[in-house]
Amino acid sequence: MGALKGKHIVLGITGGIAAYKSAALLRLFVKAGAEVQVVMTPAAKEFITPVTLSALSGKPVVSEFFTANTGEWHSHVDLGLWADAMVIAPATACTIAKMANGVADNMLVTTYLSAREPVFVAPAMDLDMMAHPSTTRNLDLLRSYGNHIIEPAEGELASHLVGKGRMEEPEGIFRYLEEYFERREAASPLKGRKVLITGGPTVERIDPVRYISNFSTGKMAFALADEAVRRGAEVTVVAGPTTAAPSHKGVKVVRVESALEMLAACRGEFPGSDVAIMCAAVADYRVKNQAATKIKREGHEPPALELVANPDIAATLGAEKRPGQILVGFALETDNGPANALGKMERKNLDMVVLNSLADKGAGFATDTNRVAIFRRGAEEPMTFPLKPKTEVAADILNAIESL
Ligand code: C5P
Repeated sequence: MGALKGKHIVLGITGGIAAYKSAALLRLFVKAGAEVQVVMTPAAKEFITPVTLSALSGKPVVSEFFTANTGEWHSHVDLGLWADAMVIAPATACTIAKMANGVADNMLVTTYLSAREPVFVAPAMDLDMMAHPSTTRNLDLLRSYGNHIIEPAEGELASHLVGKGRMEEPEGIFRYLEEYFERREAASPLKGRKVLITGGPTVERIDPVRYISNFSTGKMAFALADEAVRRGAEVTVVAGPTTAAPSHKGVKVVRVESALEMLAACRGEFPGSDVAIMCAAVADYRVKNQAATKIKREGHEPPALELVANPDIAATLGAEKRPGQILVGFALETDNGPANALGKMERKNLDMVVLNSLADKGAGFATDTNRVAIFRRGAEEPMTFPLKPKTEVAADILNAIESL
């Protein structure tokens, strides 16, 4: 109880018959002590008036990008940053399709694209629209982005047809959010702990313009960082070159380029850390003699690159580990996964290994989803999980770390 007190909620309302129920949902949020900002699509105003909603929320409803007569600009970016949660109820097939594809032609969808915290979607539509493959695909896309879909119920619809498509009742949506925040804020063993995470690739220069690297994007590392901060941990990510970034403002990011730089940064952070998660795809080799100037093609034979082994960062930290520190590694394998995972646990003195197989569709590099098995020291059997968004995989991994 009380998990929504003081929370900032953006309530998105779209143009469906169920919009009349949004007023009851808004009332429940306000009664629970949340601050609510309503964002409506233009079509929603045909179903419920902004006057009702602004009176209940105590804030003017936002619908357009700016107020026509004063030119006042409504910033979807500020609203996205302000929100602890965004709830779209009802969500029509049209808005779901726009969200899935980033069609930012109204204030509601732009706010959605700017929202950093969890998004909850309560679809409401007629049964055939709900069952249409395009709706199914769009909802799957939203799930893959880590959004929460509050499934519609079966029952009589506004069309008098009976089937799946009735928006979940306001009480049900309210409870869904309340339970989500209760679970998230339940005292986590990670609260107040220092967590070090490596992520992304490393880049090993050949000359000033060329390099050796790999396809890692760092998405898994930043998903872990966001989730650990939500659980109250103090998180530092040492990240190789990647465009990915954490969503949570509380994550400290140290940017590095090469494996040697990553090792130096980790050695500085590790002694003060309680948990270290080695998520980076560190290049195994670097070029022995980096050229100081650009290697020329004209009039030269193809150069032979002499490679030397990079240090193993996980193994280095494993050798320096103090009792009580937890060190977690990843294993990305194409074959013999479990045996390799257990071998790494021994060799690098890890406490846990997260195995993902490149053979699994949707797992590994540059996807938003992952399918993992978790091996814990001393446990007979690995924990196995289905294919999930990386945000949810991050929660599974941190649950496993908490269990240690
Ligand atoms: O030996 P392999 O590269 O498969 O091990 C993967 C695990 O070891 C990952 O956790 C990775 O982050 C870590 N690693 C490392 N430094 C290296 C190579 C791997 O920290 N040089």
